Amino acid sequence: MQIIDGKQVSAQIKQEIAAEVDKIVADGGKRPHLAGVLVGHDGGSESYMSSKVKACEQCGFKSSLIRFEEDVTEQTLLETIERLNHDDDVDGFIVQLPLPRHINEQRVIEAIDYRKDVDGFHPINVGRLSIGLPCFRSATPAGILMLLERYGIETRGKHCVVIGRSNIVGKPVASLLMQKANPGNCTVTVCHSATPDIASLTRQADILIAAMGKPGFVTADMVKEGAVVIDVGTTRVADETRKSGWRLCGDVDFDHVADKCSFITPVPGGVGPMTIVSLMHNTLLAATKQIYQ
Ligand code: GUN
Repeated sequence: MQIIDGKQVSAQIKQEIAAEVDKIVADGGKRPHLAGVLVGHDGGSESYMSSKVKACEQCGFKSSLIRFEEDVTEQTLLETIERLNHDDDVDGFIVQLPLPRHINEQRVIEAIDYRKDVDGFHPINVGRLSIGLPCFRSATPAGILMLLERYGIETRGKHCVVIGRSNIVGKPVASLLMQKANPGNCTVTVCHSATPDIASLTRQADILIAAMGKPGFVTADMVKEGAVVIDVGTTRVADETRKSGWRLCGDVDFDHVADKCSFITPVPGGVGPMTIVSLMHNTLLAATKQIYQ
């Protein structure tokens, strides 16, 4: 059994991006610039956003953070997006989700110019991804593919079972792994809350991707001997032994599942750090106009 070290791979990729940025700047080019919009003070969103700002520094990117209080109007948010769409210094930007209930999240996503949508959430990027065209790929699925690639895990002809059908992980990762590409070329099954007997499907998985946000859901009896297990879960559960009062918990019962696997991602330190590095990769692609002019 090998533990997939997302922390190490992400550090390596950030170094590669930083080296590329150094070269661009030395050649007289513009430093890539990622902007982020953060509404309110949700602990998870604050922590994701500060990790993104830190990763920008490590990659040599310029970053800017635009903050609003919880009661910001949708109109103000849409005007900010319009300004960022037209700001030539900003190569890409993200609006941290979830947004407060009075704001229509889909309207916000669709207001972002798809050429600056480094989260890959705009329907144009989602659509292009699903038909295998160049696009900004949603960060977590792209990060999972980077891990499979860097660990030399064969995907062609494998049965990949995804648990969870969210727009930002389950659907796009299923779509990417079924593409005629490498990584890809899998036979993909997607399970969700209405799937009866999920275990009978997960036991058939050569590659099992758990992305439904239920701590410890995947138990040892649900996993085939030698499977590759990718845990996307990041639920905060109460833990009084920690200073913060909580710890991150994956969707996989790691302690009992790990022994059965050929490869497994830990939580934390598996998929999480790769998500942020994919965002950095997308920002570099945006700044160097490698996807859209
Ligand atoms: N909230 C949770 N994950 C993400 C993400 O990848 N991007 C944005 N914008 N918000 C999120």
